[in-house]
Amino acid sequence: MASSRASGARLVEHVTKLGEDHPPIALDSVDFTLVDPIAFEARFGHVLDYMARVELEVDRNVLELTTMLPDPPDVDVFFYRDVWQPQEIQHGRILDALQVHLGREHADADLDSVGAKLKVLGALAHLDAFQDVVRMLYYLTGMATERSAVLAYNVLHDGTREMGEHAIAQTVIAPIKRQEPGHYAFYQLSARGLWAELAGWQKWLVRHLRRLSFSPVGVNNDAQRADFGDVMETLAIDEHSDFTAQVARVEMELLWARDKGLPVPAYVTQAFRDALEASRARV
Ligand SMILES: [Fe+2]
Ligand SMILES: [Fe+2]
Repeated sequence: MASSRASGARLVEHVTKLGEDHPPIALDSVDFTLVDPIAFEARFGHVLDYMARVELEVDRNVLELTTMLPDPPDVDVFFYRDVWQPQEIQHGRILDALQVHLGREHADADLDSVGAKLKVLGALAHLDAFQDVVRMLYYLTGMATERSAVLAYNVLHDGTREMGEHAIAQTVIAPIKRQEPGHYAFYQLSARGLWAELAGWQKWLVRHLRRLSFSPVGVNNDAQRADFGDVMETLAIDEHSDFTAQVARVEMELLWARDKGLPVPAYVTQAFRDALEASRARV
């Protein structure tokens, strides 16, 4: 109990600092000056579109959260309502404005459809012991999503600089990428704290549901799976790259520590492989 109070206090401190150090990025702080907009759009346009969609869908994620977790801890609400949503929505607006500036359509973000599976989880989560299982799944998804964002923005930032698009690298990608590690840290701290408190049957259920439900960031249907595969191709991520291992590192350690020697859970490798195959099949 004492350790859970200490980790709660640490989380509140972390979220407070994130809010203070990283105000949402203002749209008028960015500089869309491009050296070669046609070449930049041809290479990274679809990546911007994917990221913009996922970032803008934060509003649906908040709805999903309130459905899934009827009685969340105060620090979770503090994080998603006061810090995370205001930051992510600006990432989405800025990336979307950039792609429109490049002559593309707005991102097709789904802002309000909460899936049936999540509604079932939410109904079950009215039982306290089950709510902790659902919360654990939420933290695991958050970790994988934010780690993917950190890694993808790093590659995008390097590629943007290589193309000599310094205004975009410095005023769009760099400020966004600086805000992602704090999100990842929140989910990681939360996941580690909660995992230590779960009973054996809850851990079993988390492993089981996670195996059934894992998908790469932003993938909710087959078209999005192929879109994610396209992003993997452009960013030179393949299913055996360090990217996959890094996305799954803490999840592997917490959930599957007994399976020593495996760098990545099989369901993660498979999900990334499926995305690449969907992308290649569509060409
Ligand atoms: Fe973001
Ligand atoms: Fe984020």
